[in-house]
Amino acid sequence: MCGIVGYLGPAQAAPVLLSELRCLEYRGYDSAGVAVIEDGQLSVMKAAGKLSNLEALLLTKKPAATVGIGHTRWATHGVPNDQNAHPHMDSTGTIAVVHNGIIENHEELREDLIKKGYVFNSETDTEVVAHLVSYEYKVDQDLLQAILRSVAKLQGAYALGIVCQRHPDKIYAVNRHYSLAIGLGEHESFLASDSMAVRQYTNKILKLEQSEVAEISASGARLFDFDGKEVFRKPVSMESNPYIIDKGGYKHFLLKEIHEQPLVLRKTIGKYMSHANKPVNFVVTHNGDETPSYGLNFTDEEIKAFERIHIVACGTAYHAGLVGKYLLEDLCSIPVDVEIASEIRGRRMLVNEKTLTIAVSQSGETADTIAALTEAKLRGSYTLGITNRPDSHLGQITPNLIVTECGIEVSVAATKTYVAQLTSFYLLAIYLAEVRGAVTPERALQLKTTLNTIPMLQERILAKEVEIRKSSLKYAEAHDVVFIGRGLNFPTALEGALKLKELSYIHASGYAAGELKHGPIAVLDANVPVVTVVVPGVVYEKTLSNAQEARARNAQMIAVAVEGDEQVAKMFDTVFTIPAVEELFSPLLTVLPMQLMSYYIADYLGKDVDQPRNLAKSVTVE
Ligand code: G6P
Repeated sequence: MCGIVGYLGPAQAAPVLLSELRCLEYRGYDSAGVAVIEDGQLSVMKAAGKLSNLEALLLTKKPAATVGIGHTRWATHGVPNDQNAHPHMDSTGTIAVVHNGIIENHEELREDLIKKGYVFNSETDTEVVAHLVSYEYKVDQDLLQAILRSVAKLQGAYALGIVCQRHPDKIYAVNRHYSLAIGLGEHESFLASDSMAVRQYTNKILKLEQSEVAEISASGARLFDFDGKEVFRKPVSMESNPYIIDKGGYKHFLLKEIHEQPLVLRKTIGKYMSHANKPVNFVVTHNGDETPSYGLNFTDEEIKAFERIHIVACGTAYHAGLVGKYLLEDLCSIPVDVEIASEIRGRRMLVNEKTLTIAVSQSGETADTIAALTEAKLRGSYTLGITNRPDSHLGQITPNLIVTECGIEVSVAATKTYVAQLTSFYLLAIYLAEVRGAVTPERALQLKTTLNTIPMLQERILAKEVEIRKSSLKYAEAHDVVFIGRGLNFPTALEGALKLKELSYIHASGYAAGELKHGPIAVLDANVPVVTVVVPGVVYEKTLSNAQEARARNAQMIAVAVEGDEQVAKMFDTVFTIPAVEELFSPLLTVLPMQLMSYYIADYLGKDVDQPRNLAKSVTVE
């Protein structure tokens, strides 16, 4: 679970590899390393910790090589230290491997290779690949064949980059159920786990399909299936989308991204809804092209025939899915299940040709989410992806995509992509409800009009940032924080707790407010802040009663509530206010004070808010 890069051409490889790695640091930042071939000699340079450590090392070593591979790691097998950092070499020191994913049968292979005399230097599953390729290479000195024979023995889902000192004019790449992109420039080639990293150099992209090996040279790339049969595919020209690393004057990317939310919503809404009195339109074309670039390809008859909706996602995207359930059930009268994608593995997935399965994934690369959607597709379900990256793995496996307009989200903790995913669910629910005749035209118009006002209401919350910061810091020393909410704002409570944990490392839990009395209330005392999301609507009174239960245990009382709510003002020590809005739309607002609260507490505590410890933005292992 990591990022892989490569470069081969006339330029010095190290700066290119570093620049590509910078784009992939969101995939992990436990360690980074490169392997380059210079004057016929393979050398590996690697360092535990952030990419800046590798950068410093390369500044001292100054490799002049023009070919190399690189890696940024999120540790799965073996602690994050120099030894376990990639690239890994074979025993002869002539082959180097970088790896993303998991080799499931690595222990068995390791034992076998140890018996054959190979000596292991790390705890990683990756090292078996280096030794295995080396072993196979001895047979006929044909690196491509050695890789193909090795791949036949590897189990799991993975992507690999391989270089060999005896073949300094080639890089080999292997893709098994992952994403790998080759960028083809003028007499130079690039490799990366994410096309975004190569797009800074070229827009001619060749994506590896699910079981393919590429032999990359400076003049191009040859593709082979796992049986060694050559595959011919033309590169595609990708829209230029430079990766801009710019904090725009903010102290952290996270704060900038929180502030970008109104803009992101305007763009996402505007893309799919030209006017409140027009139907939502999910078909998107580019450059005046007649053929849709992406969109929803369901007929009205198919939409009317959906009997169930199944949502799969992980992390923050799962919380967006929970809000999606409320919206779709309420507006479209379709039963909806939401599942944590990793929980579906090994279970019977009860979907069929009358089910629509929706995968929500900012990156479109989360392995568990991809696996769940693939399984649903195999079982005959209709599929749909909500993502920020149409060029991702998710974009490859479903023809139906809703693409959020967030730009790149650099900070590991999701903020703007969460509200954009929520917005996608509002648009989808309105669209399906209209097609199914589940809402009157008047109600549809009202919903769309309200959705259009949300960015402006968000701006009003962000304008109170100084006040939110001041109030938040009163709770910076807490060891435990409880978040509660009901109905549509139960997911907000979960997301609030997740944000605080991720950013500040303070233990936090989110609960359905009605569940507090069934156990969690035992943890409450005067040292525990309880954040209650309580906005006018069907669950307002009941949520207030649940908050009273917390108050009776002397908990520190914080509310997220609408402006001017006097009942709330009397009962809570701190109130973060949002403008009044129909309850159905409140999750688009209530989460904002929680994001700011988490940010300011984490920053006050001196935490690395953009790259919190142990996390990765895109988790490509199951
Ligand atoms: C990681 C990130 C989370 C994110 C989750 C799902 O755990 O740290 O912020 O919500 O993956 O990512 P996805 O790209 O599928 O939305």
